[in-house]
Amino acid sequence: MTQPSLHGWPTDFDVRTDVVFHEQIKPFIENQMKLLEIYDRKRQAVNPDIKYIFHEHAERVACDTRNTCALLGLPENVQENMYWAMLVHDAGKRVLPIEVWDSPEKPTGDTMKFRRSHVDLGLDIVREELGDLKHPFVDLMVDIMVNHHEKMDGTGEHNLPGEQLSMPVRLACIVESYDGYTIPRPHFGERDISPSAVLEKMRSEPGKGAAMFDMALFEAFATMKLKSTPALSKKPMPQMETER
Ligand SMILES: [Fe+2]
Ligand SMILES: [Fe+2]
Repeated sequence: MTQPSLHGWPTDFDVRTDVVFHEQIKPFIENQMKLLEIYDRKRQAVNPDIKYIFHEHAERVACDTRNTCALLGLPENVQENMYWAMLVHDAGKRVLPIEVWDSPEKPTGDTMKFRRSHVDLGLDIVREELGDLKHPFVDLMVDIMVNHHEKMDGTGEHNLPGEQLSMPVRLACIVESYDGYTIPRPHFGERDISPSAVLEKMRSEPGKGAAMFDMALFEAFATMKLKSTPALSKKPMPQMETER
């Protein structure tokens, strides 16, 4: 196998051994995940049948991101860095009123726009909780948080052109979209949401494919998704190895 290009990936730190990550950033992420779960419980109290549970989505996409990095042959520290950065990508959702989610109808443009504001609300949470903490993981986390609803053709949430989207963001956009398309929603009707059907939809439907995604990364993701990778899906985070 040829060596993967490491350009653009978070290679220069390792959450497994980083003291600042363990002491300040990991507790922040774990707290955000707890708060998102509490928010999901409130949504479920109103709509017991909802399938799109945000904290579960976050765990799935974090695992899928790590597994795609592994398939690409990226180093283990990159896999772990990406896992933790992806886990917290939707933290801003809980700031929005719960009524904005879970409507049985397909959301209108205005509702979509309001929902999508969670990307910038997430950044507000990071600034409030971590202040101006300077750390390469914070840069990675914020990049994914703010930009995971961009599109390669520049028509995403902030209209950033594809060449300005980092490799982590490009992968996040793919993994995130896939998970959204595979969760049954009332307005999906009879749509086939099997993995192969969703991948084909993402690859070929007008407005998707190369207009939305980095297709080289997409094909790596598709390969990962169609392989059975149970051993990788719940890989625990190794214990910190440095002495304190
Ligand atoms: Fe999101
Ligand atoms: Fe998401």
